[in-house]
Order: sequence, then C-alpha cells, then structure tokens
Amino acid sequence: MAFMKKYLPPILVFFLAYYYYSANEEFRPEMLQGKKVIVTGASKGIGEQMAYHLAKMGAHVVVTARSKETLKKVVSHCLELGAASAHYIAGSMENVTFAEQFVAQAGKLMGGLDMLILNHITNTSMNLFSGDIHLVRRSMEVNFLSYVVLSVAALPMLKQSNGSIVVVSSKADTAMKAVSGILNIDASPKEECALEIIKGGALRQEEVYYDNSVWTDLLLGNPGRKILEFLSLRSYSLDKFINN
Ligand SMILES: *[C@@H]1O[C@H](CO)[C@@H](O)[C@H](O)[C@H]1NC(C)=O
Ligand SMILES: *[C@@H]1O[C@H](CO)[C@@H](O)[C@H](O)[C@H]1NC(C)=O
Ligand SMILES: *[C@@H]1O[C@H](CO)[C@@H](O)[C@H](O)[C@H]1NC(C)=O
Repeated sequence: MAFMKKYLPPILVFFLAYYYYSANEEFRPEMLQGKKVIVTGASKGIGEQMAYHLAKMGAHVVVTARSKETLKKVVSHCLELGAASAHYIAGSMENVTFAEQFVAQAGKLMGGLDMLILNHITNTSMNLFSGDIHLVRRSMEVNFLSYVVLSVAALPMLKQSNGSIVVVSSKADTAMKAVSGILNIDASPKEECALEIIKGGALRQEEVYYDNSVWTDLLLGNPGRKILEFLSLRSYSLDKFINN
C-alpha cells in the first residue's frame, strides 16, 4: 500500500503528461516549409524518400552519401518536387573530418539548420562475426561516432533555430534486400516510413515506431523503462548537473 501511495501518483502524472504532450499537436506539412534540413544516407531507401517528402513540403535540403552520381539524381528530383533548395555533398562518414566539414558546408548552403536527420549506416553484409575487428571499428565509426560528430558540429546552428536531431534505425527496403533470405519478414514501405519519421521530427516526438504490427509500438515503447527513467531522474539534481 505504501508503495502504491508513493509511486502511483507520479506514474499517473507521467502517463497523463505523456498523453498530453504526444497528442498536443497535429502534423501539418507546412511545418517543414522553408525549414533547413540535412539528410544523411540519402542516396537510397528511407533517406532518399525523406528527401523527397521534405522537397514536396517546400523545405531546403542538403543530402549526403558516398555516391555522387545517385545524389545528383536525388537532388534534381527534389527540385522537381518543389524543394526550396536542394544540394548534395558526397563523402564517407568513416572520415571524421568530412563529417565535421559537411555540416558546416551544409549550414552555409542553407543559411542555418533546423533539422539534422541521421540515417546512414555502414554497408555491412550479414555474416557471422569472424573476429574481424576492422569491421567492428568501421561499424562503430560510421554507425555511432559519426552521429556524435555530426550532432556536435550541428549543435550551435540547432540551438539558434530551436532545431531538432532525428536518429533513424530501420530495416526497410534496401536493408531488407541485403538480408533477404536470412530474415523472413516483409519490408515496411519506405515511403510511409520516411513520412512517419519526418512527422515525428516535426512534432518533436521522443520516439516513433513504424511497423505493420501493433506489438512493435507496445514492446519497443517499453513503458517499464519509461517509468523507471522518470523515477530515477527524480533523484538527480539536474540543475546542479548542468551548471557544474
Ligand atoms: C576526409 O575528408 C576531408 C574533407 O572532406 C578530405 O580533405 C580528406 O581527403 C578525406 N580523407 C580521406 C582519407 O578520404
Ligand atoms: C563497403 O564499402 C567499403 C568501402 O567502400 C568496401 O571496401 C567494402 O567492400 C564494402 N562492403 C560490403 C559488404 O559491401
Ligand atoms: C526557441 O525556444 C525558446 C524557448 O521555448 C524561445 O524563447 C525562443 O524564442 C525560441 N527561438 C526561436 C528562434 O524560435
């Protein structure tokens, strides 16, 4: 009973707050009009589709990936679809210098930044791990470290614009082709995934799950973790932490 008294009210408050904030606003495509957006991993799959959605909504986009040729096509299609502006900068996210300079260049091209969409991953093939540390290092560098580098480089511009960072993790389309025959599930349609990610970014949703199963939301949403996070954060003095 004591437990209920102590924990039930904050839990209820948490859920009410969660519902309030998540249902507060509805997405409108105009939210992206004139916004300055970077999309990484934009030569194919969800990244490419996000660039097209953003273009239709009238955003400025800078796309990146390794292949110049495909990026050129993505950019010209973005312009056809009505992008406020569209540019590409090709390079490898294995290269930290490139990652840093890319953000600065993209910011210059658009005159600022409202949204950084991190969507690239390294081109791992689906094999059993054979002890190749180079592959581990490359995965960490491309799939993790470059995300940090890009975010840090973008932070000053995002602070100015009250912008947002969107991190994508997916197994749609292109990724599904890479694992076809190994993973027996259907790919989610990349166009729809892409739109849901942009909506989530525009509404500043903490997490967005896209899948054709209702279970994904429930299981990955992990209410237990959220409650624990909420409770444990109550014992931190965040003000002190930030001002330290
Ligand atoms: C890394 O990127 C920088 C900036 O784009 C470039 O000058 C340099 O040649 C790149 N390094 C490699 C190894 O590709
Ligand atoms: C991924 O790209 C690297 C660098 O371009 C290349 O050396 C490697 O063979 C590629 N790996 C796969 C699995 O395609
Ligand atoms: C950013 O958000 C803060 C706090 O919500 C607000 O005071 C400020 O005017 C906003 N700035 C811009 C550029 O929207």
